[in-house]
Amino acid sequence: MTEYATLTFEGKTLELPIVTGTEGEKAIDIRMLRQKTGYITFDPGYGNTGCCKSAITFMNGEKGILRYRGIPIEELAENSTFVETSYLLINGRLPTRKELTRTSVMLNDFSLVHEDMQNFYQNFPRASHPMGILSAMVNALRSFYPELVETDEQTEMIFLRLLSKVRTMAAMSYKISRGHKVIYPRPDYTYCANFLHMMFDTPVKPYVIDQDLVRALNVFWILHADHEQNCSTSAVKTVGSARANIYATLSAGIAALWGPLHGGANQAVVEMLAKIWKEGLSIEEVISRAKDKTDPFRLMGFGHRVYKTYDPRAKIMKKICDRVLPKLNINDPLLDIAKKLEEVALNDAYFIDYNLYPNVDFYSGILLRAMGIPTNMFTVMFAIGRLPGWLAQWKENLDDPEQKLCRPRQIYTGSNQKPYIPIDDRE
Ligand code: ACO
Repeated sequence: MTEYATLTFEGKTLELPIVTGTEGEKAIDIRMLRQKTGYITFDPGYGNTGCCKSAITFMNGEKGILRYRGIPIEELAENSTFVETSYLLINGRLPTRKELTRTSVMLNDFSLVHEDMQNFYQNFPRASHPMGILSAMVNALRSFYPELVETDEQTEMIFLRLLSKVRTMAAMSYKISRGHKVIYPRPDYTYCANFLHMMFDTPVKPYVIDQDLVRALNVFWILHADHEQNCSTSAVKTVGSARANIYATLSAGIAALWGPLHGGANQAVVEMLAKIWKEGLSIEEVISRAKDKTDPFRLMGFGHRVYKTYDPRAKIMKKICDRVLPKLNINDPLLDIAKKLEEVALNDAYFIDYNLYPNVDFYSGILLRAMGIPTNMFTVMFAIGRLPGWLAQWKENLDDPEQKLCRPRQIYTGSNQKPYIPIDDRE
């Protein structure tokens, strides 16, 4: 039986249906509000706006819960691989062994990038940011693969092609940015091992695959694979709602992810920690700058729109750092600084009152540094991980008959009507 919320305004009442999710989440359905009252809702940043019903990812920001298709992130990080988790997100269930093998074979089959694309890479200025290059190149893929995405088979093929090629393109852009020979993928390697191989193998020094690093990379990408209606996913859904092609749509997601308030935070965190270390700043000084409302500085890697407790992904990331760095004989001073910052912040009244806890980006940069990933590639690593989430959410949106072109309203606060003044009559 449908429940209703009653809105009272200007002496009238309106019954608005209540929508309830499978985890008991509630929303007031205001779709008829404007039509019935002439009013709209006002919610800058959409913090209280549900834009869809989704069966992909469940988050509870108060309790620090994250599940993909019902499975807790902790269990996936412990037992799954990135390829299997991608299948889960996109198809709604874990694959059988046969399905997983087929997926892995197809990912290997699609791993090469059209040779002509190398010309584009060669011509970007050397100092270009890899996220700008990735966004442009994913958009450019449309010119190389103009096929339509209509049937389920076409969709599966294009998704696997994107998952495979974006990884190859990321490694390729790194090699070209260093002026090194591009290393081709190997069909006998798994998805993550292949990425490390394409990044770090050289004709003079073969790269030896370390299974602990492969595992750490799997976990890193699993943790980033989806996060329901975040900024970049919303960009993907907004652009996708105009029926733009999948490549242009993903390119918009990559652009959104690049921002330092979103995926760009992993780079910003390491830059912040490096600055603290190089300049010998005290932790107290940094914390007091973060609290100073006249200073635009924020503690990067802290705070989240949804999590009001410890981000469950940050907990796993911290554990992985503690496991992987000693194994690689790395004693990174930035890890020590991060831990001290965390300790001081979590005991500080400001951070407690504002519910500011470490988010996934706080420790992820330290893990990526340990793997040898350069700082300006950190957000590209996030983008590869987020790809299955973007694809799953894009498809769910297109398949949802309740979805429409994304087009919010506004409250206009500009001038009222006034006449055009010819240029010679202006003061
Ligand atoms: N350091 C200091 N103060 C902070 C921080 C921080 N990291 N984060 C939030 N605050 C304060 C704000 O100053 C604001 O205070 P005010 O209400 O007195 O003005 C209050 O907390 C609320 O912050 P908002 O920015 O309004 O909250 P919102 O939900 O929009 O922000 C965000 C979330 C953007 C993540 C924010 O916490 C932030 O800027 N964090 C640092 C950047 C970061 O780590 N981003 C990665 C997020 S995770 C991801 O996208 C993968």
